[in-house]
Amino acid sequence: MKHKADQAATLRKIIDIDTTDEARLSSTLPRVLSITSGKGGVGKTNIVANLGYVLRRMGYRVFILDADMGLANIDVLLGLAPRYTFQHVFQGEKKLHDIIIDGPAGMKILPASSGVQELSELTQEQKLFLLSEFSAFGRHVDILLIDTGAGISSNVMYFNIAAQEKLVVVTPEPTSITDAYAIIKVMAQKYAEKRFSLIVNQAKDEDEARSLYSNLSSVAERFLSVAIDYMGYIAHDPHVPLAVRSQKLVTMLYPRAAASLCFTKLAKRLLDHRPDQTATGNIGFFWDALLTSSP
Ligand SMILES: Nc1ncnc2c1ncn2[C@@H]1O[C@H](COP(=O)(O)OP(=O)(O)O)[C@@H](O)[C@H]1O
Ligand SMILES: [Mg+2]
Repeated sequence: MKHKADQAATLRKIIDIDTTDEARLSSTLPRVLSITSGKGGVGKTNIVANLGYVLRRMGYRVFILDADMGLANIDVLLGLAPRYTFQHVFQGEKKLHDIIIDGPAGMKILPASSGVQELSELTQEQKLFLLSEFSAFGRHVDILLIDTGAGISSNVMYFNIAAQEKLVVVTPEPTSITDAYAIIKVMAQKYAEKRFSLIVNQAKDEDEARSLYSNLSSVAERFLSVAIDYMGYIAHDPHVPLAVRSQKLVTMLYPRAAASLCFTKLAKRLLDHRPDQTATGNIGFFWDALLTSSP
């Protein structure tokens, strides 16, 4: 019992960030958002990390869950070297709080990646244990951003369905648009998801982003009966790959660059956006849904 109390205290120390007073916490917090795409390489990881950084600078307590099993993960993007992953937790070698790492500006990152697949294969006892650990730190999070993999595999769906808001990333490339439509279609028809948000990445300007949005959303609304909200765009900007190469975020290295200004705008729009106020509005529910569902 004492051990458990110690653990909870340590967890609080790790997660607590002393700048919470600055946060103008809105009534819609906490929020759980998955960032997903039909096609890989469209900029999900960059969006999660930069958005997380900007929101953190605004005073929000940001938690990033890296749920992509691919290679170019968030820790690589940020030049971090996590020593442990989810796998160590499942194997009983580490506690959840042992594997959480600190990112820029104090964002917390859970490098789940290689342990993601095992989530669906946990025993009931393991699930309950994880759930209690998750709910302990859920109280110290305002915004949970989930970097999912691309495509329609069950591991991607798993996180999208458990998340309260689904942000689909698309670029002006034709294959990216058709793949975005495909992932929305699967979520709508197979999982009865009816509301999505769109982020257009690598757009020339707002006009291009808006017209891509209106084309995609009108087709999706007509054929899939879903509603898609426009969340914003990120300009195609050579500063992004430049920052990636030095394992830094564009919003840190080049705060005045076009893409960085877009990230600030995106963060503000996201905070103004009113998600559906359903039971899925809390982080405890997210973990619960994640651990008890199996798409
Ligand atoms: N707005 C942008 N402008 C220019 N290049 C970008 C932009 N967004 C992403 N990129 C580039 O695209 C590549 C893929 O981005 P990444 O975030 O890893 O995609 P994903 O996570 O979807 O696979 C990166 O090398 C990055 O430099
Ligand atoms: Mg990625």
